[in-house]
Amino acid sequence: MTELHLARTLSFDDDPATGAAAVVYHERGAVVVGDDGRIAWAGSAATVPVRWSAALRVDHGERLLLPGFVDTHVHFPQWRMLAAPGRDLLDWLERFTFREEARYADRMHAEIAAESFLDRLLANGTTCAAAYSSSHAVAAEALFSAAAGRGMAIATGKTLMDRACPEEVRDDPEKGIAESAALIARWHGRDRAIYAITPRFAVTSTETQLRLAGELLRAHPTCLMQTHLSESVREIETVRALFPRAASYTDVYDRFGLLGPRSLFGHSIHLDEAELRRLSATGSVAVHCPTSNLFLGSGLFDLKRLEASGRPVRVSLATDVGGGTSWSMLATCGRAIEIARLTGGDLTATRALYLATLGGARALGLDGEIGRLTPGCFADFVVLDPRAGEVLADRDDLSETLEDRLFALAVLGDDRAVTGTWVAGRRHHSRI
Ligand code: GUN
Ligand code: ZN
Repeated sequence: MTELHLARTLSFDDDPATGAAAVVYHERGAVVVGDDGRIAWAGSAATVPVRWSAALRVDHGERLLLPGFVDTHVHFPQWRMLAAPGRDLLDWLERFTFREEARYADRMHAEIAAESFLDRLLANGTTCAAAYSSSHAVAAEALFSAAAGRGMAIATGKTLMDRACPEEVRDDPEKGIAESAALIARWHGRDRAIYAITPRFAVTSTETQLRLAGELLRAHPTCLMQTHLSESVREIETVRALFPRAASYTDVYDRFGLLGPRSLFGHSIHLDEAELRRLSATGSVAVHCPTSNLFLGSGLFDLKRLEASGRPVRVSLATDVGGGTSWSMLATCGRAIEIARLTGGDLTATRALYLATLGGARALGLDGEIGRLTPGCFADFVVLDPRAGEVLADRDDLSETLEDRLFALAVLGDDRAVTGTWVAGRRHHSRI
C-alpha cells in the first residue's frame, strides 16, 4: 500500500560544510513510500504529483521527518552494559566487557539479546548500524538473522581476538578467519546484510591474525573492515610495545592492508600528522564516538584537525554502546557539538545531523540506498518531536531558525523525542 507521509522534512544531498544547497528542508514536506519499501517521491507537500493524491495519508503535523540514523560503531554484546565503571579503556575491558561478551557463546542468549539490541536501536531512531558482534560466530549469526527478520540493514562481523583476553572470548587465527569466511558466504550481500571483518584492535590480535584479516579483506573487497584505533593513552603504549617495528598505531594496520575506503577506525583520537596523511590518502574513515570518549576519559576527538584541508580524513559519528553512554544519535550529536567547542572547532547541529544520517550512510558505502529522503532510497526514516517533554517544548518556543530547533534536539534530545521509526516503509517503533 502506497503511503504519503506529511511532516517537516529534512534531508541532505551533501555535507552542509559544502554549502547551504546541501540541506533539503520543507516546512510542509511529503514523502511517498511505495509498495517496495522504497521512497517513490519526496518534496514539498504542495507539489505532490496527482498520481499519489489517493495514497494513504499519515500526517505527522509539525514533527520532523528525517532519514533514519546510522550508527557507525556499536557493540551488540555490550547492549546492556552501559555505564559499567572502569578506570580507563583497558580496565573496563578486563573488568566487565570480556566477561559480558563471554555469554554470547550461547546461541539462545545471543538470539534473545539480538532482538533487544535491535529494539533499542529502533527506539532511538537508528535504522542501520555497523555493529561488533562477540568473538562467537553464533552471535553474528543471531544478529544477521534478527536484522533480516525486520528487513533492517546491518553490518556486523565476528570479532577477531586471539590474545590478551580470557579463553572464553579468544579464538585462534585460522579458526577466526574460517568462521568469518563462512559468515561472509552465508550473509554478505543477502538482503540488506553486510559483513564487516572485525579484528577488535591491535592489543588483542597477533600479527598472524591481522595478516589473515588483511588477506580476507583483499579476497572480499566489498566487505567492510572495522577496528579500534588510538583511543586511550595506555592502549597506545601497549600497541607500541607489541609492535616495536611499526612506525605508529595506524601503521600496524597499514602494514597488513587494513586501511581503505571501506575501513572504519573507531575513536582515532591521538594521531600524528603522518597517521592522518595515511588515513586521508587511503580514504579510511575515523569514527567519532563522543559519549564513549567522555565516559572512558579517552580524550577529545579533534574534528577540525582531522578534517583540515590538505589531508582531510573522512569522519563518521557513532554511539559506541556500551563504552558509549547513550543509544541516541541525537545525544551523540549533542556531545559531538560540545567536544568540537572544546577543541576549538564549530559543529552546527545541522551538520551533526548530516553526520548521523547521510554521513553515516556514506561511511558504510550505502549512499543511494539509505541516508536520504530521495526516490530509490529505502524508506528508512525517523519522526522526531521537537516539543517532546516540557524542557524541549519550552525551548522550542524560542527557536527562530531550523538550526535553532535542531540544536535543541541535539543538545537536549534522546529517545523521548523519537515519535516513530520506519524501516523499508514499515513502522517498527512507536512512542504513542
Ligand atoms: N577497544 C577495544 N575493544 C573496545 C571496546 O569494546 N570498546 C571500546 N570503546 N574500545 C575498545
Ligand atoms: Zn568500540
